[in-house]
Amino acid sequence: MKNFSNRSFLKIMDLTGDEIEFLTDLSVKMDGYKNPTGPCSGKNAALIFEKTSTRTRCAFEVAMNDLGINTVYLDSSTSQLGKKESVKDTARVLGGMFNAIVYRGFGQERVDTLAAYSKIPVFNALTNESHPTQIIADFAVIKNTFGTLKGVTLAYFGDARYNMGNSLMTGCAKVGMNFIACSPKEYKPSEELIKTCVKIAEETGATISFTEDPLEAAAKADVIYTDVWVSMGEPDEIWEKRIKDLLPYQVNKKVIDGSNAKIVLHCLPSFHNLETEIAMDVYKKFGLKELEITDEVFEQFESSIFEEARYRLLSIKAIILATLTVENYDPFGR
Ligand code: CP
Ligand code: NVA
Repeated sequence: MKNFSNRSFLKIMDLTGDEIEFLTDLSVKMDGYKNPTGPCSGKNAALIFEKTSTRTRCAFEVAMNDLGINTVYLDSSTSQLGKKESVKDTARVLGGMFNAIVYRGFGQERVDTLAAYSKIPVFNALTNESHPTQIIADFAVIKNTFGTLKGVTLAYFGDARYNMGNSLMTGCAKVGMNFIACSPKEYKPSEELIKTCVKIAEETGATISFTEDPLEAAAKADVIYTDVWVSMGEPDEIWEKRIKDLLPYQVNKKVIDGSNAKIVLHCLPSFHNLETEIAMDVYKKFGLKELEITDEVFEQFESSIFEEARYRLLSIKAIILATLTVENYDPFGR
């Protein structure tokens, strides 16, 4: 077992390719695994969510329950964080009471500060820049589908500059997967991150590329990935520009017809129909019934998309187990 003991899980860039593969493989083994009286039993974790969540919060709470870890949930409206107490002070308070902290919120610097000042393992449950636990789940589904990560080509359609685009590009570079960002130029990840990832890719055999042509990306893709066009915390006013810029990058029948991709992935939640308040608002303003992915394609690939959601629990359980146990702890006793 790799040594994750007592380490924080802040961003994919902090892990080696081998470590990402290890956690991916351990996630697969976590199917059905429970050990409430095992090595994590009796620990306490604080879950701070400054943004909403269904999958990530449930995955952390259920995983921790299955491993015997007690959880305390905090959000901005019911705790002192933000309005009356800084991240730095909160970190020092929680560090004295808990064995781990889970944080979902805004800038990456907030989760980094929590880790630096709490001195206990901190898990990033999504920041603007990064969503590392999602990557382990995504890669587990990809590895189960193709039997390998190396050499698989993932095409990301949409806003590639935000948490998912950044984390997927970094993860692909580290494990030797080919990453294609399919978006307008201004939605590419930052030049600095691209430069770092290209350098990593030279060592691992991955390729990092960009195209503004959806059919070119589709033709090369083994995996098609998309995410919402407006992320949590971004202002509503931005919808008009995002629709104008990103509608040509919608994952629709034309894209699928031009592709041999075996699976479509979406971290979710998704605007593929009018069954949500936000989708209905967008429809009333702009007349669109489906956004980043059409309902037809979403339902055609629902088994990979919801398998990915199921893997959020298994991957988070793997990350917790590797981190909150002693060095080289082997859950399977080998
Ligand atoms: N994919 C994901 O992080 O979902 P939630 O926002 O529901 O946690
Ligand atoms: N980019 C999305 C990801 C949701 C899991 C967001 O930040 O809202």
